[in-house]
Amino acid sequence: MHLMTFIAMYRPGRLMRFMVFAAQGIFYNTMFIGYLISPSFCHRLVGYLEDEAVATYTKCLTEMDKGWLPQWTDPDFKIPDIAIKYWKMPEGRRTMRDLILYIRADEASHRGVNHTLGNLDQTSDPNPFMESDSGVNHMHLAAAKPAGLERKEVLEKYASGVGTRT
Ligand SMILES: [Fe+2]
Repeated sequence: MHLMTFIAMYRPGRLMRFMVFAAQGIFYNTMFIGYLISPSFCHRLVGYLEDEAVATYTKCLTEMDKGWLPQWTDPDFKIPDIAIKYWKMPEGRRTMRDLILYIRADEASHRGVNHTLGNLDQTSDPNPFMESDSGVNHMHLAAAKPAGLERKEVLEKYASGVGTRT
């Protein structure tokens, strides 16, 4: 959705679209093979990539606040409908700054989830994001922790009967 939102805003030409398509093809296949070899490594790598994304969007917000990105702070700048629908952005909260906040929150969640999975033993530990009946939203917990949930934390929750083993 992040990619679709930015594509809707900037309508890249054929060359740029091809480069995005090719990069996705290369990344997808490399990640697929990488995941077969070491899921932990892949989750850790994605965790760090997402960490960079959070830092980049934070820098972007700082620069918008300093007035260094006038195109995005222009009151006439419209964000695409696809973004308003996807994030259910309320009326009056649909600026580029709001959109970046939503996107950054997603990245923070991806970062926490991937670092958490990177902290776990892939062969024996439960996946805290697969549970359905514990009432605990591990996704929210992980989003608030840049380094993810510690393995000990996840296992303690399961030992105390919260969550189901998957
Ligand atoms: Fe992400």
